[in-house]
Amino acid sequence: MTEQMPRGKETGGHGIDHKKNPVVITIAVTKGGVAKTTTAVNLAAEFGMHGYRTLLVDIDEQGNSTLSATGSYRDTFNDAALFDAYRTFGFPGCSTDHFIHKTMMTGVDILPCSAYSLMIPDQAEILHKTKHYPPYAFLSAILQNVRFTSYDYIVIDTPPGKNTFSLSGIYAADEVIIPLHPDKYSVDSLNETYRLIQTMNRENGMEISILGILLTIVEKVRFTQILRDSLDSGAYRGLRFETEIRKGQAVNDATMRGPVVLMDPRSNPARDYKALYEEVLTRIRRKEQGGNQTKETEEENGQN
Ligand SMILES: Nc1ncnc2c1ncn2[C@@H]1O[C@H](COP(=O)(O)OP(=O)(O)OP(=O)(O)O)[C@@H](O)[C@H]1O
Ligand SMILES: [Mg+2]
Repeated sequence: MTEQMPRGKETGGHGIDHKKNPVVITIAVTKGGVAKTTTAVNLAAEFGMHGYRTLLVDIDEQGNSTLSATGSYRDTFNDAALFDAYRTFGFPGCSTDHFIHKTMMTGVDILPCSAYSLMIPDQAEILHKTKHYPPYAFLSAILQNVRFTSYDYIVIDTPPGKNTFSLSGIYAADEVIIPLHPDKYSVDSLNETYRLIQTMNRENGMEISILGILLTIVEKVRFTQILRDSLDSGAYRGLRFETEIRKGQAVNDATMRGPVVLMDPRSNPARDYKALYEEVLTRIRRKEQGGNQTKETEEENGQN
């Protein structure tokens, strides 16, 4: 039988108090190639630029956010990365801080991917056998080591699919942002991700919340409006971010050099990510103040 892993935020109730606790924002959806990494890195860059101490966590063994945030391939971090935090979990005197690195972005550190990241699920299984928590609960525990100390925001980039990596990112979240590229399969992946979060909440007695649904790589095509209308009128009413990230070559041009908000701040996608940052802050502040419109919408959704 699995037990529930204690999580720091429970000690402070559900209210977000980032004077003490960082807010953990996970970018997750089961579909691949829809700008999860691009969103994670650009949002982290915006937080850092605005003076928030930010930790980016790369729990995707592809290492894309590690490359984008540091300019270095994942092998660079083989001696000290997220896998090592799993490997040394529970060792006396071993803190997650040992595996955190600086990035190219002001105010943003990273818990990076390494070549060993693909062994994280095996390591989580080993930990599960000794500690009895579900394998996906250990990322949250690893972040406990830092979550009360240095950071205002923790942004987690997850891989596509339904696996230990993506489940770990969701379990560790206070808030989930679900990116959607407007195409015919996007609603399936949204539904799947939504059900995953609901199941995790139900099984663990948790309150992981969806901060919003973000349309990404958006082009002016008829289907985008159909998707907007369907999100706004159905079970996801109130969750769609007003901000949308437009398609722009600037993102691809910037990828290897850093986030587009830094590399080409005047481009459409960069302007959109800046607007997203503002909307994210507004939604988080609204929740802090108790005007939890998004949450109410989620509760309504739960009754559907
Ligand atoms: N606004 C945008 N305009 C144009 N291209 C974009 C935009 N956002 C992301 N891309 C490109 O789309 C591709 C997928 O983006 P990204 O790697 O962020 O997606 P992902 O969801 O993290 O993928 P994966 O599921 O493989 O982790 C990349 O080549 C990226 O440069
Ligand atoms: Mg990615």
